[in-house]
Amino acid sequence: MIKLEMKDILKEFPGVRALNDVTFSANRGEVLALLGENGAGKSTLMKILSGVYPYGTYEGDILVDGQVCRFANTREAERAGIAIIHQELNLIHGLSIAENVFLGREPKTKWGTIDWKRMHGETQALLDRLHLPFHPTHLVSTLSVGQQQMIEIAKAISIQAQILVLDEPTSALTESEVQRLFDVIRELRREGVTMIYISHKMDEIEAICDGITVLRDGSSVGSARIGDVTRNELIAMMVGRDISQMFPKAESVPGDVILSVQNYSVKKSPDTYLLQDINLDVRAGEVVGLAGLMGAGRTELVMSLFGALGLKAEGTVRISGTRVNIQTPRDAIQAGLALVTEDRKESGLVLSMNVRENTSLVSLQTLSSRLGKLDHKREHGLAARYIEELRTKTPSAETNVNNLSGGNQQKVVLAKWLATQPKVLILDEPTRGIDVGAKVEIYQLINQLTQAGHAVIMISSELPEVLGMSDRIVVMAEGRVAGELARADATQESIMKLATKGA
Ligand SMILES: Nc1ncnc2c1ncn2[C@@H]1O[C@H](COP(=O)(O)OP(=O)(O)OP(=O)(O)O)[C@@H](O)[C@H]1O
Ligand SMILES: [Mg+2]
Repeated sequence: MIKLEMKDILKEFPGVRALNDVTFSANRGEVLALLGENGAGKSTLMKILSGVYPYGTYEGDILVDGQVCRFANTREAERAGIAIIHQELNLIHGLSIAENVFLGREPKTKWGTIDWKRMHGETQALLDRLHLPFHPTHLVSTLSVGQQQMIEIAKAISIQAQILVLDEPTSALTESEVQRLFDVIRELRREGVTMIYISHKMDEIEAICDGITVLRDGSSVGSARIGDVTRNELIAMMVGRDISQMFPKAESVPGDVILSVQNYSVKKSPDTYLLQDINLDVRAGEVVGLAGLMGAGRTELVMSLFGALGLKAEGTVRISGTRVNIQTPRDAIQAGLALVTEDRKESGLVLSMNVRENTSLVSLQTLSSRLGKLDHKREHGLAARYIEELRTKTPSAETNVNNLSGGNQQKVVLAKWLATQPKVLILDEPTRGIDVGAKVEIYQLINQLTQAGHAVIMISSELPEVLGMSDRIVVMAEGRVAGELARADATQESIMKLATKGA
């Protein structure tokens, strides 16, 4: 029996047709993957389903069990059993877990006041069910992003959603949190909940989904059962062309040491080390992959090198042979470092600015005359160049980044740092949320940089990416360097062996 159908959906934003006649359906108790490139229209389609874009702002029909649904807002969609967990989390940090779960539908006592006892009791039951060791009164701000994701799921369960949309739910989860999430998805599937799962991670889709539907440029291009298509066929459906080589690593000839880190330590308290005795050299033309488990200290290391950790470091750092003392990100940029972080909202983008302004944000000095006047022509040229090279999908360079799809926002972050022409480019999860086709473009840009003599450090939780693009892999564990592997010797197993050393 058909549970959910969306028919002939059309949606326009000023200057963009985001959805152009999309049709798709999902059965009861099915996990359906919604696939497509950045900007294909996945999030927009799901926002229509869940009432974020109300009836009247789009054309076409939503049918649940044959009944036409016209939602004026998300509350109405929730009442019809449809919940969405957004790509960008939506919880209110200053409120408790229970307050977030019951926001806007708090249980009331017979006197009309909030029934805290019931609210906390029901929240506790949800937390127990998800094996989450928190108290309903804990503030959401004390939880990690992964834990917040689980609270969103608790909320969806509590409204007894029959249709649950998960928009890139694992982008900030640890490996064990992903497994926990998958357990919950399987349990909900057994209970007959229909789930729509958006992700750019093919491994996950193969692991958890029953079927797929692909969108391209706002149109549906096809559907299939998961076992009936190969991964290459899927990718070709998404990007409209064959991708012959996922990791187009160029031969590189390492040159002089550009970044040299010696005896580098950072303490988090007088007697505990966050980073201990790190030695690391990165040469011109080289990509050094930093591998390790979550919490091994990779992000802390690059943040500290970039002057963004706020903790005192011991040891020496040299750039092109000169000793540097980096205390702030400004010092780091001046010294020739660039850091693309995993969290584009926190440290990457100014959402109220347009694509051009964000792209030139860190390069204003080099784009200005000696008297400090910005060269507008060069600024426009810079923005246009990166939109083309990264294939950023945006109506124009003057579009607010707020209006771009998640993956396209990430491309603007990359453009901003590439534009500084750094001596050392540090990438922390650079392709998170980026579609498979655009990943290849980014790898090619990395090649161009190394061939021009720049050095690259890359952190990625996706081992195939580290293996595919690094010349050397430095493995960290518990704040130390656990070992180093040459490209030729590195395998998933040899990396994992070092990463779990001593654990
Ligand atoms: N609020 C908005 N205003 C203007 N344009 C928008 C808005 N939201 C989305 N768009 C545009 O609609 C198109 C589809 O965006 P959408 O966010 O649905 O893509 P997506 O498939 O979810 O991509 P991603 O994988 O990057 O998250 C894009 O061209 C995007 O720029
Ligand atoms: Mg999206």
